This record gives sequence, structure tokens and C-alpha cells, in this order.
Amino acid sequence: MLGLGWNTEHITHKEEDMGEVAGRVVIVVGASGGIGRIISREFHNEGATVVLVARKVPKLEELANQLGNKRTKVIPTDASVPADVERLFAETVKMFGKVDAVVISTGNWSPVSIDTDLKEAVEQAEQDFRAHFLTVYTVGLCAQRFFRKQSFGGLIVNISSHVADRANLVGNLSYGSAKAAASRFLNGIRFEIFNETNRIRHDEESDTFVPRIRVTEIKPAIVNTHDNKHLLPTKEMRDLAVQPEEISGWIIKHFNDVKLPVCKSFTSEVTV
Ligand SMILES: NC(=O)c1ccc[n+]([C@@H]2O[C@H](COP(=O)([O-])OP(=O)(O)OC[C@H]3O[C@@H](n4cnc5c(N)ncnc54)[C@H](OP(=O)(O)O)[C@@H]3O)[C@@H](O)[C@H]2O)c1
Repeated sequence: MLGLGWNTEHITHKEEDMGEVAGRVVIVVGASGGIGRIISREFHNEGATVVLVARKVPKLEELANQLGNKRTKVIPTDASVPADVERLFAETVKMFGKVDAVVISTGNWSPVSIDTDLKEAVEQAEQDFRAHFLTVYTVGLCAQRFFRKQSFGGLIVNISSHVADRANLVGNLSYGSAKAAASRFLNGIRFEIFNETNRIRHDEESDTFVPRIRVTEIKPAIVNTHDNKHLLPTKEMRDLAVQPEEISGWIIKHFNDVKLPVCKSFTSEVTV
């Protein structure tokens, strides 16, 4: 059962002791990937504690080593499996006392278009819906439930794609559909959370209501990651692509922004 065994009553932190990001506990799901790795590194550089999550351990441990094995914890997790995700939150709280944010950056892209063999297209859809929808669905549901119990709430960030909103790019029939489904789900939980006034807190200083749980998405075009070198063969193309640091920089900049924009698109001057 979701949330069983979570005792969040003791979890507090004093906002005045916190920097924008320093002192925060951030779970990065997909931390061994091209984008997740940079997000983990940049959060760590800013003084956050980073929980590094993916299914395979070696690349996570390599990253933890690069970060000096301080303020890091590797927790192997299949983000599409409920028991795994519940254990992830429970272990993080046990070790670091709270969770401030979870960033979901799972899966990669494979083309499916109108000419793709039917069996292949369906197999790819199963993979895409597991990597891009079921992970966001499982982590998102678990996170919002945890953050509702934690007095100061938390932040959920999904790394989506510009194709979630665009049907005019060839090869995105499966990937784009999975990304769109994840966006629809996040809009749904955002609505349900915000709709319940007892789940927002009153900020006496600014006399405004501050959402305790914030949900946002980032929708980049092609990103200059190590794995995309074959798609971006020249330095010029890599320079014109979205840089992963732009993505992590945006999340860090808006980390405590109560008026957090729902979604940010990063366009690239190069198309592949
Ligand atoms: N790269 C781009 O140009 C680009 C552009 C727009 C949007 N995006 C989106 O950005 C996100 C990250 O992309 P990327 O290029 O960094 O991908 P990547 O390099 O392929 O990394 C994907 C990460 O997700 C992990 N992962 C996959 N399935 C998982 C699961 N079920 N549970 C836990 N971890 C899982 C992988 O590790 P394991 O295999 O060990 O689990 C890996 O750490 C994706 O959602 C992608 O669609 C990427």
C-alpha cells in the first residue's frame, strides 16, 4: 500500500536555514543518463544532497565517485515499479530526513512513424509507455502522496520533450504519445492538489497562498548529451543544441519560486 510506514511528522526544516538549493534533498530519477547526470552534478555543486536513481548501478556509482561520495546516495530503483519507488522514498527519508524535490529524467528516444512495422511499433510503444509514462505516473503519485504528508510539501519536475505538444515532427508517434500522456497525468495531479485548499499554506509575509506541492515540466528539443553525439556530429551542431546545463540551471533558478511556471520549453537552433 502506498505510503505505508512513512512517518513524516518529525520532518521539518527551517526555511531561513536554507539556501535556494543548499541543504535540500533532491532525488534524481535517471541520474546516470545524459541529462540526469548533469542535473545531479549541478545540484550537488550548489550544495544539495543528491539521491542518484536508475536501474543499473555501475554508472550511478561512477557518478557518485565523481561527486566525491559526499552528499550522495545511490539507490537502484525501477521507477515504473510501485514497491521500488516506495522503498526509494522510505530509504531517502531514513538516510537524509526529508525529500525536497524529485526530478524525473528517464528513458530515451526511438523512432516510430507510419512506415514502422506494426509489431515493432507496438513493442516500442510498450517500452516508451513504461519509460516515459509509467515512471512519471508511479513516481508522481508516490511523490505527491509523500509531499502531502510532509508539512512543507515538495517539488516534482518532469523532463518531458517539445514533442509532447507537437505532432508535426516525424518519428514521434510512440515517444510523443507517451510524453503527452505523462503531461496530461501531471496536469491532473496538479489540478487535484491545487483544488484542495487544505493543501496550500498561507504565507503571512506576502499574504498569498503558496502551493505546498509544485509540479512542473521541462520540454526541450534535442539536447547536447554524450549519447546524442551521433545525432549531433559536428561541434557547431552541438553548440546549437540545448545544453543540459540550461535545463539544470532553470530548475535551480526556480527551485523556490512559488509562482513556478508550469512548463518551460527549450528550443534548439539545430534540428535532426
Ligand atoms: N537527450 C535529448 O536530446 C532529449 C531531448 C528532449 C527530452 N529528453 C528527455 O529527457 C529525459 C532524459 O534523456 P537522456 O538523454 O538523459 O536519456 P538517457 O541518457 O537515455 O538516460 C535515461 C536514464 O533513465 C534511466 N531509466 C530508464 N528507465 C528507467 C526506469 N524504469 N527506472 C529508473 N530509471 C530508468 C536510465 O538508466 P537505467 O537504464 O540504468 O535505468 C538512464 O539513467 C528523457 O525523458 C528524454 O525523453 C531528452
